[in-house]
Amino acid sequence: MNLAKRMDLFKGYLGTEMNVRLTKMREEGRDVINLGLGDPDVTPPPHLLEALKDAVCDPNHHHYPSFYSNRPLKEAISGWYKRRFEVDLDPDTEILPLLGSSEGLFHIHLCLLDIGDVALVPDPSYPSYEAGVKLAGGRVEPVPLLRQNGFLPDLDAIPPETARQARLIWVNYPNNPTAAVGNPEFYAKLIAWANKYGVVVIHDTPYTEICFDDHCPPSFMEFEGAKEVGVEFHSLSKSYNCCGWRTGMIVGNKELIAGMAKIKSHSDRGMYYPLQVAATKALNGPVDFMQVRNTVFQERRDVVVKALREIGLDLDTPKATFYVWAPVPRGYTSSDFCFKVLDTANVWMIPGSMYGKYGEGFFRIALTHPVNRLAEAMDRLKKFMA
Ligand SMILES: Cc1ncc(COP(=O)(O)O)c(C=O)c1O
Repeated sequence: MNLAKRMDLFKGYLGTEMNVRLTKMREEGRDVINLGLGDPDVTPPPHLLEALKDAVCDPNHHHYPSFYSNRPLKEAISGWYKRRFEVDLDPDTEILPLLGSSEGLFHIHLCLLDIGDVALVPDPSYPSYEAGVKLAGGRVEPVPLLRQNGFLPDLDAIPPETARQARLIWVNYPNNPTAAVGNPEFYAKLIAWANKYGVVVIHDTPYTEICFDDHCPPSFMEFEGAKEVGVEFHSLSKSYNCCGWRTGMIVGNKELIAGMAKIKSHSDRGMYYPLQVAATKALNGPVDFMQVRNTVFQERRDVVVKALREIGLDLDTPKATFYVWAPVPRGYTSSDFCFKVLDTANVWMIPGSMYGKYGEGFFRIALTHPVNRLAEAMDRLKKFMA
């Protein structure tokens, strides 16, 4: 069957093909350590599982939910933003719960781009931004994230004619894949730049709650003028250890939220009601488990960073996310290196080039396994290098 031409414009999500290959290797009896997938081994705290279980067992909770979610969830999101970031959000007009932030970050392009419109997309970046732009008929202009700029976009390096053509810019801190973090000066400059050129800022920030060494990542919404120029995606996936639940949100600019709600009224029937109940409980509930969880990730980070430095790699210590972004050893492309390590040491790490041209020269490790398993992976890497 012939599919639409637009289906040739974008690739499937990068994990899909690799998961098939890794499963096949395991079926052949190989003990593969997958440091690729960004879905950690941590589990939701028990009070959330209880809330979900109780809500599922209520026979009244199995009808179509509202497209826009019920008010208690939107109020819980508003309350969480207030407590965590000191940000005021109107639950009725400035918040829209989503089936994971992925749902919204794919559809938002339909709200903003007409055919041929330019979208500024960081390179390297989370692959769904680019796919979403292309599916909506937009044109991607890459914005390099370079190590010498702390993996932040150099707004001054974007040519003014490109900035004037652009309808939107994607910004993602704490960043996947580089693990870089934003800072107040950068956000203030971004808002001024966006106002100057009339560009919508889309800030994607699912990793604010996974942070180390007293670093506390901000929300874009904390900065003056943010709501006028843009929106922010957030998610319970990583914050509350529940990637599989599909509970996320978009907050900020009213017009854009209304547009997203209009799309959502056709694209799905809203978030499963028991998930709304459990997500509400999560956002209104205690967050002390996050500190415990972050201590676990921090220990893993330290083991991996130390091992990579021992094999001679010069990398930054991540302050947030559960990723480590490291330069590949001299003499390899990122793809050569990662596939050779996979073939000889049964350890899978993602080549930076899979995240874009400027990801070349780096690879990403996800700290998604217990520390002893990560130590085993690092030992195998050391042997490979020797
Ligand atoms: C940068 C970034 N944005 C968005 C997502 C999607 O998160 P969600 O589970 O909320 O769909 C991820 C998931 O890994 C991510 O890394």
